[in-house]
Amino acid sequence: MKFDAPATNNAIDQLKVVGKPTPRIDGPLKTTGLAPYAYERHDVAPNAAYGYIVAAGIAKGRIASMELSAAKAAPGVLAVINARNAGKIGKGKFNTAKLLGGPVIEHYHQALALVVAETFEQARAAAALVKIEYSVSPGQFDLAAVKDSAPMPEKSSGSAPDKTQGDFASAFAQAPVQLDVSFTTPDQTHAMMEPHASTAAWEGRKLTVWTANQMIDWGVSDMAKTLGIPKADVRLVSPFVGGGFGGKLWLRADALLAALGARVVGRPVKVALQRSLIANNTVHRPATIQRIRLGASRDGKLSAISHLSWSGNLPGGSTEPAVDQTRLLYAAPHRETRVRLAVLDLPEGNAQRAPGEASGLMALEVAMDELAERLDMDPIELRVRNDTQVDPENPKREFSQRQLIECMRTGAKQFGWEKRNARPAQVRDGRWMVGMGMAAAFRGNLVMNSAARVRLNKGGSLTIETDMTDIGTGSYTIIAQTAAEMMGLTLDKVFVRLGDSNYPVSAGSGGQWGANSSTAGVYAACMRLREDIAKKLGFDVANMDFADGMVRSGARAVPLAEVAGSEGMSAEDKIEFGDLTKKYVQSTFGAHFVEVGVDAATAEIRVRRMLAVCAAGRILNPMAARSQVIGGMTMGVGAALMEELAVDKKHGFFVNHDLAGYEVPVHADIPHQDVIFLDEADPLSSPMKAKGVGELGMCGIAAAIANAVYNATGVRVRDYPITLDKLLDRLPPVA
Ligand code: MOS
Repeated sequence: MKFDAPATNNAIDQLKVVGKPTPRIDGPLKTTGLAPYAYERHDVAPNAAYGYIVAAGIAKGRIASMELSAAKAAPGVLAVINARNAGKIGKGKFNTAKLLGGPVIEHYHQALALVVAETFEQARAAAALVKIEYSVSPGQFDLAAVKDSAPMPEKSSGSAPDKTQGDFASAFAQAPVQLDVSFTTPDQTHAMMEPHASTAAWEGRKLTVWTANQMIDWGVSDMAKTLGIPKADVRLVSPFVGGGFGGKLWLRADALLAALGARVVGRPVKVALQRSLIANNTVHRPATIQRIRLGASRDGKLSAISHLSWSGNLPGGSTEPAVDQTRLLYAAPHRETRVRLAVLDLPEGNAQRAPGEASGLMALEVAMDELAERLDMDPIELRVRNDTQVDPENPKREFSQRQLIECMRTGAKQFGWEKRNARPAQVRDGRWMVGMGMAAAFRGNLVMNSAARVRLNKGGSLTIETDMTDIGTGSYTIIAQTAAEMMGLTLDKVFVRLGDSNYPVSAGSGGQWGANSSTAGVYAACMRLREDIAKKLGFDVANMDFADGMVRSGARAVPLAEVAGSEGMSAEDKIEFGDLTKKYVQSTFGAHFVEVGVDAATAEIRVRRMLAVCAAGRILNPMAARSQVIGGMTMGVGAALMEELAVDKKHGFFVNHDLAGYEVPVHADIPHQDVIFLDEADPLSSPMKAKGVGELGMCGIAAAIANAVYNATGVRVRDYPITLDKLLDRLPPVA
């Protein structure tokens, strides 16, 4: 089914099942431990051996020697695999050749060998006996040191490396009010609960990998290319994923090494990336340095906006597209937005939840707060005055929906924004200095083609199959809701099977495109099934109604169980998105409100209240969407106040590479959180009229916290995370 014209009224709009807060249908499996994760596939891969990864202890250089004899002779060891004996490792689309290093070492903790043994403990003990001598090459590990010579990249992972409009320099010079501020955001790691983990098994030439992956078809393609085998011989199965956040978009070392190991030892092999390897072995959110200049009139109209962002990566790596939202969020005739990319020898930077906006808004939305203060204007009012309903760089291109102002107004009312004292460091609650902050939220709405198969089973129940993944987001449930709505069934009659490359290729989970795209694919398949049913019954497809397990047309009503007969019926289709995302800017909007307390003596920061208001198209399942936004807000607390991979600039690695050293928020750090969804349906985004929402919650929230800390204390910290050491010496004297 092509989607290239605005959605008309359709079966989804009934909203009997879709749009209702619905508990996860996979919840019972997870809470009872019956949902099988990749490392636990004892059921399908009995007698598996265990792999343990030996990783590089230097950032750059070569292996001078690798001594394996002691490891090979250790108890229980079945094989030791390295680049020398693994056979040919091809290059997939996404840098897969790097997944097993040697003799060249490209980054710290790059996998260099896999020890396979009867038990995990034996593999781990033997891995410690692998002796590697290195010849070390000098590397560049300091973004700030090389920033000024960083070139414009050939392409940006965002919309473009460089964009200009009008004449920024002179408009800024002439602006009555100017702001010129710089920010840094640190490297961050995904820190998902489930490590990257796989169990691999060969049957003849056919490989099956039970793994944790967001994008099944990308994974199959890259596994086939890397091993040099036909795609048809690779099956990936990933029905449950314990968190992805962008870190599991690609094939990683666990999957490739499990496959290589299983081939050598002739039985299934399990590999979970050791927790302490994840930060340096896999990808992370790259650090940025950002400079923002804003020029405005005294009444708060922006005339000039500049946003420059520097990040680094391994050769061939991508940029952090931190300026993308600045191209669309506020009007101003003169603008420039540029990204620069330095070569660093740190581990690969790549997508982490809301790549681009999550980092970019940490700068832009604090700059807006600073400008508002300079103008003596309410920060919401400043944003309202600079709202735009069209692409500022291309006024012919309208936003499909843009309710940013409504988000801010609704939030202000609900949060009690009028009680905020605009002068900082004025409000005390005992030992706490109290402040409020807000920020706009913005995230693009991407769409991806997505296919599904739907089977009307004997007895009248329905089974949906698609390789879509549920990375903790609620995909199972919204897909079941979609199918139930389309076919007039209750949820208990719908079975959803996901995350298997034997099923039709879906959008997968990433970039908050998954929910809208994958349910649109299910919609397409259900439409096809409805047509087939109409044909079978001689009904007019335009005049039939599915409800209560029956299909009705005119005076005739037939139970779906009867339609199914003894054979059942099955249909498959794919939603293919046309160019509506080019013709209209499709974005999601929100507003974040935060109250913090800062201890007047110790500078300890506690978030006290949080509210997000979101406008993100139709909300398919308000319960799951709320959880997603709350998750994003929680990650924002981490980004604002805690998370930072500490770079060892001499040896080139992230020092705090486990969950003991890398601090993320825990329950006790998170106060009452509230989420409001504005009533919206976007007929330009898909037949579902939904959009992404999972990443929106993370966008802008860190800036809202930073603005609240400023309002509480009068201290601006522009280098994230805002830890108490950066505040302590600058706090007002304790009264
Ligand atoms: Mo997302 S960071 O594109 O999984």
